[in-house]
Amino acid sequence: MSARFIIKGGKKIAGTIDVRGSKNAALPIIAATVLTEEPCRISNVPRVLDVERMLSILERMGGVIKREGNHAVTIQNKNLDIEALKSDTVKQLRASILFLGPLLTRFGKVTMRYPGGCKIGARSIDTHLTALRDLGGHVRLGRKYFSVEFPEGTSPPSALTLKEFSVTATENVMMFLSSIPRTTCLKIAASEPHIQDLAKFLSKMGARIRGAGTSNVAIKGVRTLSGASHRIVSDYIEAGTFLLLALGTRGNVRIKNAPISQLDLVLKTLIANGARINLNERESVIETRGGIEDRDFTKIQILPYPGIPTDLQSAFGVLAAQTKGATLIHEPLYENRFHALKELTKMGARVKILDPHRALVYGPSKLKGVNGITIQDLRGGAALVIAALIARGTTILYNAKEVERGYEDIVGRLRALGADIEKV
Ligand code: EPU
Repeated sequence: MSARFIIKGGKKIAGTIDVRGSKNAALPIIAATVLTEEPCRISNVPRVLDVERMLSILERMGGVIKREGNHAVTIQNKNLDIEALKSDTVKQLRASILFLGPLLTRFGKVTMRYPGGCKIGARSIDTHLTALRDLGGHVRLGRKYFSVEFPEGTSPPSALTLKEFSVTATENVMMFLSSIPRTTCLKIAASEPHIQDLAKFLSKMGARIRGAGTSNVAIKGVRTLSGASHRIVSDYIEAGTFLLLALGTRGNVRIKNAPISQLDLVLKTLIANGARINLNERESVIETRGGIEDRDFTKIQILPYPGIPTDLQSAFGVLAAQTKGATLIHEPLYENRFHALKELTKMGARVKILDPHRALVYGPSKLKGVNGITIQDLRGGAALVIAALIARGTTILYNAKEVERGYEDIVGRLRALGADIEKV
């Protein structure tokens, strides 16, 4: 049987919680280390399943990984054998696609297994492949594997427009272009904080990147990138998750290492709706004092950064179930990300899924504990953990491992806040 969380809800949530390094920054930065044969030291790496899987794929390729304590690694990729990209592990992790761009600069041709299936929408790797094709790459699609090749002498164009604001496609292209010794303009680039962090790392390696964090990025590559040392940025999605957890449970929580300026619209939306929050930007601390007033949100509009992130959509849904009136949740990005809201109805929430991209949540609802909540995806799982902490009675959530893909030691850290949660 899959691992379960058993949560007794209704306990007082209070205390301090530390935000760890960003998973979605660590993943591309680990991939970027293959751009050089020199050692790279990365600190503030979150100890989560997705990061462990990414490191293990690299190790299978011949990367040498030395760990220092729980959160730092030194990686050196001298002799790599990319046959390992045909293994099953690649299939388990969607982010394994991030190896493609940087490895192409080293090998010219990469054949790999299709990366992991996606439970939250029909995400394909099409944006990545179209971009590489537009840069002059030859793409071949097989049943189990696909390959991309840049024949000797390919001269990529000086400007590239992505098909959509794709986060990992932006990262793949930025890594690829960092080794091309000329300036390329990337348009329709995604601008999430993890992309900005990757750009910082690539700059330390020797590339010159301007405009990261906007939709127009200029990348001046160099033929030989060098090793670099980097501290991963704090995870704004983790900070946002803890914030919504604290407000939902009406807790008094001090969230440390919170990247406040990356949560502008999240904070504005919450504060405008009566959330009692103190912000200390200088010390990167967010404090909550007892929840959110009974006002309704009316609408939660999900958008690429700097909009309200899709990765917080399900948790906002849980909070909307605690506030008065109807909240429209508009999720334009994924077409299968309302699973958590559906599960929430088992706990007593009133939710109407209007279509794959819009849901109405009516509140306030008194949530009750239920044995038999299924976690489908990482962020939906975190939202359901929040719901179970709010609910009266015991909730048993199945497929707990999903949450561990992205939240380090979630059980220990929530217990330290007073939560009654265990994993069995
Ligand atoms: N999309 C659009 N229009 C756009 C941009 C995206 O419709 O302009 C759609 C895409 O078609 C896709 C979805 O939105 O269905 C996400 O697209 P994207 O390519 O940006 O996603 P990704 O790069 O595969 C990363 C994160 C996800 C996060 C998304 C969106 C990593 C490793 N993964 O995925 O994180 O949800 O960006 O912000 O960075 C997670 O951490 O749990 C997670 C799923």
